[in-house]
Amino acid sequence: MARSQFGPINPRAPFIWHGGDYNPEQWPPETWDTDVALMQQSHFNVATVGVFSWISLQPEEDRFTFEWLDTILDKLHASGRAVCLATPTAAQPAWMSQRYPDVLRAGDSGQRNHHGARVNFCPNSPNYRRLAVNMATRLAERYGRHPALLIWHVANEYGGACFCQTCAAAFRGWLQQKYGSLGELNARWWTPFWGHTYTDWQQIEPPYANGERLTHGLTIDYRRFQSDSMLECFKLERDALRAITPDLPITTNLMGTYPHLDYRAWAKELDVVSWDCYPWPSANPSDIAFLHDLNRGLKDGRPFILMEQTPSSQNWQPVNALKRPGVLRLWSYLALAHGADTVMYFQWRRGRGGCEKFHGAVVEHGGRSDTRVFREVSTLGAELASLGATMLGATTPARVAILFDWNNWWALDAAIGPIQDKAYVATVRKHYQALWRRNVPVDVVFSDSDLSGYDMLIAPLLHMVKPGLAERIEALVARGGTFVTTYFSGVVDETDLAFEGYPGPLSKVLGMRVEEIDALYDGQINHIVMADGSGSYTCARLCDIIHSEGAHVYATYGDDFYAGTPAVTENHFGDGWAYYLASDPEESFLDTFYKRLLAAYAITPLLTTPPGVEVTLRQTERQDLLFILNHNPAEATIGLPAGARYADRLRGQEISGNLRLAGYDVRILALARAP
Ligand code: GLA
Ligand code: ZN
Repeated sequence: MARSQFGPINPRAPFIWHGGDYNPEQWPPETWDTDVALMQQSHFNVATVGVFSWISLQPEEDRFTFEWLDTILDKLHASGRAVCLATPTAAQPAWMSQRYPDVLRAGDSGQRNHHGARVNFCPNSPNYRRLAVNMATRLAERYGRHPALLIWHVANEYGGACFCQTCAAAFRGWLQQKYGSLGELNARWWTPFWGHTYTDWQQIEPPYANGERLTHGLTIDYRRFQSDSMLECFKLERDALRAITPDLPITTNLMGTYPHLDYRAWAKELDVVSWDCYPWPSANPSDIAFLHDLNRGLKDGRPFILMEQTPSSQNWQPVNALKRPGVLRLWSYLALAHGADTVMYFQWRRGRGGCEKFHGAVVEHGGRSDTRVFREVSTLGAELASLGATMLGATTPARVAILFDWNNWWALDAAIGPIQDKAYVATVRKHYQALWRRNVPVDVVFSDSDLSGYDMLIAPLLHMVKPGLAERIEALVARGGTFVTTYFSGVVDETDLAFEGYPGPLSKVLGMRVEEIDALYDGQINHIVMADGSGSYTCARLCDIIHSEGAHVYATYGDDFYAGTPAVTENHFGDGWAYYLASDPEESFLDTFYKRLLAAYAITPLLTTPPGVEVTLRQTERQDLLFILNHNPAEATIGLPAGARYADRLRGQEISGNLRLAGYDVRILALARAP
């Protein structure tokens, strides 16, 4: 990144925001003063309000009731809290669904849903859009100059898809824009297959569950269209807010590797990325780290908002374990270590009813402050406050990039064969993890990212290659960079038409071609035998049977009828190198492989640590900030580089030599940067 440091999210609040969702409308006014006092006690300094308050703000189409929100904002402000104000448009009031049935979303059978739940609106409904924009405008008019207001939070977790008639009609318009003619659409979707050729635009329908699900060009385009439609809703509200409050940042909360929205396209429209971090039960710290890096990558390295995490447990997973003592603090710093400038929660106070009454909160049903969770939140809040503005806007420099692409994910998901579960996200994480284990910083990039600053680009399962990407990869390699991709890459173009020979546009840089793809049953393995005699590794899932066309054979298969044929190739192209991993190797292969590749660029670990101790770097104009995170429950010892004297930012003392880190403990070590 050319930037050496970004500015704070809002210059009026130059500190690490610590706060989260607050739903006072669920509670009698008597609790509001208690809430504010407890917030002060726990250093909960930014409250996200209004998220689902539409009915409380507009009980009838022509009646508005902002008074309670006036009181809340004033109370928060009077006690020194700031506000992240949400537009309430994620859940429309019942009167709206009743009066304008077109605001209701339709499921994948095309049938309208009944009123209820949330994110149950049709993103193409003119009534929804009109009423949402009107509400956003009124909020901006009323609160745009409120001294507590720091940022707008539009709606909440856009997602899913609508299959109603309004959407179907809008989809046809979207397709006409994209393809121009039916002839072009038929060609790009390969519709002569099974005689699916369209002869009239009106024949095109959304991919209904009981309709056309097998024309993958259509399936992928419908996902793009729905993502665009929801983004359009966001943009309409954003523009209404921006017109009145041009200086306030505007965001909406994203959900990590959420399948339905192309967040790279979304990020371009947000002033700042914010996201809700709810790791699934089997997640390990590297998976969470990957998600933070993904969110940082969405806006090319700009720090992001950790908008939600649970202070204790979730409630919507099959088993909802508590975060162990210390883990809330550890995972909060994990976010900061990867580029967050905030630590926020869902939720402040646990509601007494509704489907989230068992979701973790800072304040439990008992309303007490003498609880473990309240204490941990308060201690963390005080510690974050003590850090002041030091790290705000700090960058996270990386020379290695890993590519993620939502359209590619959709194409892999849609593809029938050669194996059912393509495991795209898991495969990307697997490669990421090999670098994470080495404490090598990684940027997550996308098909349209600027690749010019990287020494190495890793693109696992790059199945769909969009126009122009192969050329940019060639440029990276030609100038001396390294490119790594895997089996089942370079297979389809952006409308899911197979290239005439794989790896399609990547063939030139990779210097090899694929002839066949073998799929392995669960538990079945092959071997990758290293050509330099250094040993062999297992591999599984898919085995591309490939031929070198100039590439050096780095490893061969050990078994089956293709034993002895290339399993890994290495192609010298320009001044750099391009690798094709024809199968899915065991982790230890990736450890050795990446160690060798990194050595060629003298990319070394930030620090060498025992397993489970992670190190990241954030840089400001003046300082290097090393985050050292012990993900183990047991103490760990880390040797600091000889001679280096760090300022321990959390303990306020100097440190050098050996660092002993208690289980789940964290340090931030600062070193002045050479001018
Ligand atoms: C999401 C939502 C919140 C809440 C939490 C629960 O992130 O934005 O409203 O439902 O999940 O984990
Ligand atoms: Zn719809």
